[in-house]
Amino acid sequence: MGRIPARENVLESLRLLEYRGYDSAGIALIDIHGKIHVEKTTEKVESLCQKTGNMPGCMAGIGHTRWATHGEVSLRNAHPHTAGSVTLVHNGIVENYLALMQEMAKTGRVPASDTDTEVAAMLMDCLYDGDPVVALTRAMGRIEGGNAFAVLFADRPGEIYAVSRDAPLMVMHTQDGSFLASDAVALLRYGETMAVVPDNTVVRCTASEIRAYNLSGQPAQLRYGNACWTASDVELAGYSHFMLKEIHEQPQVLSRKMDFSSVPEDVLRDATDIRIVACGSAMHAGLAVKDYMEEQTGLCVSVEIASEYVSGALRHVGKPLFVFVSQSGETADTLLALKRAKSIGAKCICVVNVRGSSIARAGDYVVYTQAGPEISVASTKAFTAQVVALALLARRMSGRGLSLELEYDPAALAEKALKQENAIRRIAEDLSCAENIFYLGSGMDLALAREGALKLKEISYIHAEACATGELKHGCLSLVEPAMPSVMIATGREGLGRSLTSAEEIRSRRGRVYLIVPEDAKIPDGCCDGVIRIPTASGISAAVPVAVCVQLLAYYCALKLGKQIDQPRNLAKSVTVI
Ligand code: G6P
Repeated sequence: MGRIPARENVLESLRLLEYRGYDSAGIALIDIHGKIHVEKTTEKVESLCQKTGNMPGCMAGIGHTRWATHGEVSLRNAHPHTAGSVTLVHNGIVENYLALMQEMAKTGRVPASDTDTEVAAMLMDCLYDGDPVVALTRAMGRIEGGNAFAVLFADRPGEIYAVSRDAPLMVMHTQDGSFLASDAVALLRYGETMAVVPDNTVVRCTASEIRAYNLSGQPAQLRYGNACWTASDVELAGYSHFMLKEIHEQPQVLSRKMDFSSVPEDVLRDATDIRIVACGSAMHAGLAVKDYMEEQTGLCVSVEIASEYVSGALRHVGKPLFVFVSQSGETADTLLALKRAKSIGAKCICVVNVRGSSIARAGDYVVYTQAGPEISVASTKAFTAQVVALALLARRMSGRGLSLELEYDPAALAEKALKQENAIRRIAEDLSCAENIFYLGSGMDLALAREGALKLKEISYIHAEACATGELKHGCLSLVEPAMPSVMIATGREGLGRSLTSAEEIRSRRGRVYLIVPEDAKIPDGCCDGVIRIPTASGISAAVPVAVCVQLLAYYCALKLGKQIDQPRNLAKSVTVI
């Protein structure tokens, strides 16, 4: 809000946040008389732009892209929601919304939507006696769960209020006015200095200033800092998709120095084992590094799916050291698992990309992966940065802190792997005709096979499944049909012979096999249908070039099929609900 028209600004911010995945969107503008104008769509932000063409010029407004949780995708469930003098947008889940809804029903309020959000608007309206800060602080005292709200009050035309707890919220003030968002990407075009709003702090934004208050209504301090990212980081820069741009950024990203100084060198002193907890690609990064971390630290390392870790008994035999991995730092499953680990007094290291994110703030020690903003839903550069960060973390934990380097330079390996782009593109075109694809590997290569299969599923919608190379003959082989492709990853010299035997098993059933092997690997003529050669590297270092290859395979496959690469159907970049 401020000195520039709110409609255009809010819409442009929503456009910048489209990458996160959403199924409906909406905007509310407040004019100088306190009249609130709302427009919504269940289509893309572009359609909201068209629908709002005739909205009056206002200097203050809020907007939202929704990913449905409570209530179907519909106009009435899309945000903003209004109750009396309150109009708001919301991220998170009001966990006690049923109890609050019953309470609101007793006050005669009837919901107009199926959302948990509307009850928060009702509650704030109910608690509003002319002081927005009081209404918001009291409401936060009643609302359970991780939530962020941006709120307009009909009798406060020149003001926007916001508050959050365990949900991202950041603010920025410039000569053009005050801006707030749940994601720094929406603010970068205004400047680079912003403040992450601390939990349970209410902010009041006007054209001339931003003020903050704690839950007792007393003035609070905001700490402004540099966002580390710039507006050009979130531009396509001539690439056709962010995914391709981000794949190509890997040499540059992996050459950045990461800072491990927050992790004490004796962090393992009392630890009996290490548990890496994460979701999606971040979990695969953990799997890829598991063996290496065991080798380096001499401790048993387990890798857990965060959503599995939040329910059921938290096993805490011994004194585990936890490592939480997350690109966004906002994944609700990972955040909840982190809170459970903290509740048993465990030490938690967080390996995160987004500075100041909830996971980064909640851990004991944080390591930033320095991958820069990742816009494509399918993770690429963040994944390889996580692999390198975890490998270096293993070295730090092992007391080899002085030589925080891997045997091979990951940036150079990524660079060399990118040179295979044309060969990979040709193989991807073969894969694009398939209905089912196996990704095979052993040890670290199995983790990369999982990541390769995930990438392919996410953006090409072809069913892909990872299987341990040696396990194929114990069941999955029954699915091999003539022409069905398998991508077999074999980076280790020792396992190559066994991989080639499995390749034979597939080919003798007329399946097709594409190998990903080091450039110096000796493979017999005619043993496969295509080869991708990665630069020679041993152990964990080989993960980077393999990852680049499977990313490119998925990208070119989806491109050939004409899919929406950066924003695949049904998926969100940052999954802030459990
Ligand atoms: C979502 C994304 C995945 C990502 C996963 C974990 O499912 O679509 O690409 O790997 O969340 O996200 P995080 O931000 O915690 O790494």
